[in-house]
Amino acid sequence: MMMTAATPTPAKHSATGAQPEGAIGERDAAARVREMFGNIAPRYDFLNHFLSGHMDRLWRRRVVARFQDVLQRPEARALDLCCGTGDLTIALARGGRAKVIGSDYAHPMLVRAAEKSRNYSAGGSLSENLAGYVEADALQLPYDANSFDLVTDAFGFRNLANYDRGFAEIFRVLRPGGQIGILEFNEPTGDYFGRLFRFYMKRILPRLGRIISGSKSAYSYLPASVEKFPTPDDLIAKLTAAGFANPTYELWTGGSVALYRATKP
Ligand SMILES: C[S@@+](CC[C@H](N)C(=O)[O-])C[C@H]1O[C@@H](n2cnc3c(N)ncnc32)[C@H](O)[C@@H]1O
Repeated sequence: MMMTAATPTPAKHSATGAQPEGAIGERDAAARVREMFGNIAPRYDFLNHFLSGHMDRLWRRRVVARFQDVLQRPEARALDLCCGTGDLTIALARGGRAKVIGSDYAHPMLVRAAEKSRNYSAGGSLSENLAGYVEADALQLPYDANSFDLVTDAFGFRNLANYDRGFAEIFRVLRPGGQIGILEFNEPTGDYFGRLFRFYMKRILPRLGRIISGSKSAYSYLPASVEKFPTPDDLIAKLTAAGFANPTYELWTGGSVALYRATKP
């Protein structure tokens, strides 16, 4: 399903950036998010696959399929922001000929990403295309303007302390003609699936996440952050305000996940 139309926005989706419980200001929010992901890094992959019923693998494969026009160009450079333990970075590097960099600001997540990449890379396309991992804040990237042909972010954008600055920074590092691809959770609006999704996110997922990860807050933060995250139409408006052309989104898996795409003119 591909969409561009506007619909009214419920007030609960009005957050300008991630707001972990108790955070005071953007700097504090970013520090808390970073610490939280650092703490859950050892169990992150298992929980990701388990709590999504392995749908996360399918979603990443679809992202790779959507950006084949860029990924098949050997001279192209892609940046996978908020790469965490590197699942999308690895999929992008294996799915084409472009050079791919993964970046994240949580060191323990990058350590896992590097380990996994070493295990995968036995001489195949990954070792040729994966240009490495960089510890960096997505709101302050260590790259010159016009450096990348593709910037992706899977399930990380929602955690940024300021969404407008996130888009502005991605716009800056993209070359003219470069593409952005943001994969994020979304609250389904459908009556039946919407209720099921909210029940799972609020009642089941935080409990399982707490038991398995040992973190009290991380998997309560997840549903809260999805609830506060701007609606697809608000995100499209933000992409347009940041200067992107042709912003669109697709809803997957009953509307629980959205892929946002746009181009830097
Ligand atoms: C839910 S994980 C997603 C990881 C990975 N992309 C995936 O699909 O599994 C979110 C990641 O975003 C990172 N992150 C959040 N805010 C960030 C920021 N401002 N700069 C860099 N990384 C950030 C976190 O450290 C975490 O690794």
